[in-house]
Amino acid sequence: MNTELTIALAKGRILADTLPLLSRAGIEPVDDLNTSRKLVFATNRDNIKLVLIRSADVATYVQYGAADMGVAGKDILLEHGGEGLYERLDLKIATCRMMTAGFKDKPLPRVRLKVATKYPRITRQFFLDQGRQVELIKLYGSMELAPVVGLADIIVDLVDSGNTLKANGLTPLQLITAISSRLIINRASLKMKNRAINEVVAKIESAIV
Ligand code: PRP
Repeated sequence: MNTELTIALAKGRILADTLPLLSRAGIEPVDDLNTSRKLVFATNRDNIKLVLIRSADVATYVQYGAADMGVAGKDILLEHGGEGLYERLDLKIATCRMMTAGFKDKPLPRVRLKVATKYPRITRQFFLDQGRQVELIKLYGSMELAPVVGLADIIVDLVDSGNTLKANGLTPLQLITAISSRLIINRASLKMKNRAINEVVAKIESAIV
């Protein structure tokens, strides 16, 4: 009897890079994840199923063992803290940069700098490391709007092509960290399902470009 494995995948831009990687590793979903409304997907491998969830939730599913493994952006892992899981592989997909961004040449206030972000933990740490206390404004998306309407002085967000910043009159300022997607594994699953997980990890590792 094959050990059952559940792999959590993130919806959105990571998925487009994840599916070809899984395919090269010999794991193919039976249905089309991009068009189906399902959340649980069988694969060509009897013992492997995929669950499709919001990217911000992947680390939580894996932490609690609702999924044995998952593909999550480093941004999500840094913000989550990594409790209960191992970061096993850098998949080198969905690469981008986490940056501060604001208006070019606009002087920033020395005190009470207002920073809008969906990454409060990373942002607080970044500015603490610089000895600065900032006022954090937690948002869930469309961060680029915040400086435009005066909600914040700057933002902390992911930058890929830079087009979203540019389209809103903003410019990247400081690099916080490079981001890519990682393969994460639940700590208990790794002990209980060691052989099955190692086999999948090896296949995925050999599929990394
Ligand atoms: C991300 C990020 C930026 C944008 C950057 O958002 O939050 O808004 O992509 O990409 P660019 O530099 O190529 O323009 P995403 O589209 O992933 O959606 P989100 O707002 O749900 O995070």
